[in-house]
Amino acid sequence: MPSDIDELRRELDIVDVVSEYIKLERAGNNYKANCPFHPDKTPSFYVSPSRQIFKCFGCGVGGDAIKFVSLYENVSYFEAAKHLAKRHGIKLNLKEESSEKKKLHEIMERVAELYHSKLRENRRVLEYLKSRGIESSTIKRFSLGYAPASGELVRLLKEIRGLEPYLKTGNLLQVEEDRYRDLFRNRLVIPIRDASGRVVGFGGRLLEGEGPKYVNSPESGLFKKRELLYGFYEGISYLRELKSALLVEGYFDVIALHQEGFRNTVATLGTSLGREHAQLLSRVVNRVYLLFDGDEAGRKAMRLAVPHLLRAGLEVFPVFLPEGLDPHDFLLKEGKASLKALIGSSVSVFDLLKKRIESGSDVENSLKDFTYYASFLQDRIRAYTLLSELSRITRIPVDVLSAKMYKAPENSEEEDESRLSFTEKVFLKGLMELRPSVNLDELKLSTKAREYAQSIINEEYYPVPEDVLNLKVGDIEREFEASLSRLRIDIPEEEISEAVGVRESVREFIRSHKGGIRPYSVRRWRGKLES
Ligand code: UTP
Ligand code: MN
Repeated sequence: MPSDIDELRRELDIVDVVSEYIKLERAGNNYKANCPFHPDKTPSFYVSPSRQIFKCFGCGVGGDAIKFVSLYENVSYFEAAKHLAKRHGIKLNLKEESSEKKKLHEIMERVAELYHSKLRENRRVLEYLKSRGIESSTIKRFSLGYAPASGELVRLLKEIRGLEPYLKTGNLLQVEEDRYRDLFRNRLVIPIRDASGRVVGFGGRLLEGEGPKYVNSPESGLFKKRELLYGFYEGISYLRELKSALLVEGYFDVIALHQEGFRNTVATLGTSLGREHAQLLSRVVNRVYLLFDGDEAGRKAMRLAVPHLLRAGLEVFPVFLPEGLDPHDFLLKEGKASLKALIGSSVSVFDLLKKRIESGSDVENSLKDFTYYASFLQDRIRAYTLLSELSRITRIPVDVLSAKMYKAPENSEEEDESRLSFTEKVFLKGLMELRPSVNLDELKLSTKAREYAQSIINEEYYPVPEDVLNLKVGDIEREFEASLSRLRIDIPEEEISEAVGVRESVREFIRSHKGGIRPYSVRRWRGKLES
């Protein structure tokens, strides 16, 4: 059954749509222009009327007419579709859309039930959970499951007519050699619920053998990592009652802490905490305790999270775990009471920095952090009060301190963002999350992107634009590699002349470079991360 969006796509002509925004020039059967998504001196942006798609060979963006509008207007794909439908007098039936969503939710629930029942009968996995101290009631509360390799998922999906809707989102299945494979096969599965309790995706933990530790559902209309917090639904009544949240990094931290009575614990899904997460929390709590792993990565994650939380009006209390321990480890090693005491003895991020400054330790960085964090407070009076206190302690005049504040007027930040191409945004996101060592000189970056990249490398995260921080990236390593290829490879003129027709060969080109890129990239980044 074609969706309304398909119908809209058929009604639109991409050349008309794009022409409403930029001037197109004929080039054989196609049209070209300077790319609106990156600084482009020669026209590397192509539109193909026969295929109804656009593609930029400079920065790599491409897609259909709706995608073009969504990028140009900086709105979601769905918003862009609505916008276009209105402009072209086409009726979009939104109810249709939501019943399709409802079907997806039903399917997800059934799949979670299947996995859960498979766990119940798998002694080996039950043993594993027991050995990690996870009790039977916890398994039930979090509907933990196990995905067998035996094709039962496909059978269930066929039975409930769930196969077709699912292929669209890629949420559960992979197609391998023309066969469907369960994305999570042989893994412990952790269902992820949205704030209203609907299963929207899964995390799958490796139990033995080779492979990544976690496989997660990829981003889709249903599963949006930047809006989801693991444990939020399960802990909602505790979050409301306590008016505070414990923010941790791992699924297992959430599960174990809930079990031991810390039921206001939540975690992001392997991404850094962004604006939407902070907004979600601010709907129910006033204060967030940050319990990040006691290692370098944990400390960095903390620095990234604090501005978002402050901006959402939340109080932030960093809790420092001993080096090398995550909250779950700490709980196992030191026990409930110690964790409670550690949390109880924490102070707000501003008090913490004030203490450091007073005691003369790491004064320069602490000052910098203080004014930086203060600049995210929406309550200007509170910000001024804090700076006055700081001024009293340091004898630095308030106006000198406030001149040090980070200024991010919404508009100027947006202007900067629009100067980054999508590829550059992916690159910056990858740089932040994977912390690889890259040589910026080898990459074809715009001045702005280079500035941001340099500041990430220098660990001054502050100026990185919001839409980079919150960028949706399904598979960060793969996308980052693709962005590296695109930023480095000059596609020869002759290839471009065939314009959109060569899209496949460009893909192939990037694919063939992967072999060369992987060894010195991923492995080395990982090494860096771990050392
Ligand atoms: P951890 O490695 O700390 O995982 O990664 P964990 O959940 O605490 O698992 P245990 O205790 O080792 O069993 C923290 C989070 O990072 C994401 C997951 O969300 C994980 O919970 N992650 C980690 C991934 O998405 N993929 C990975 O390969 C690893
Ligand atoms: Mn862990």
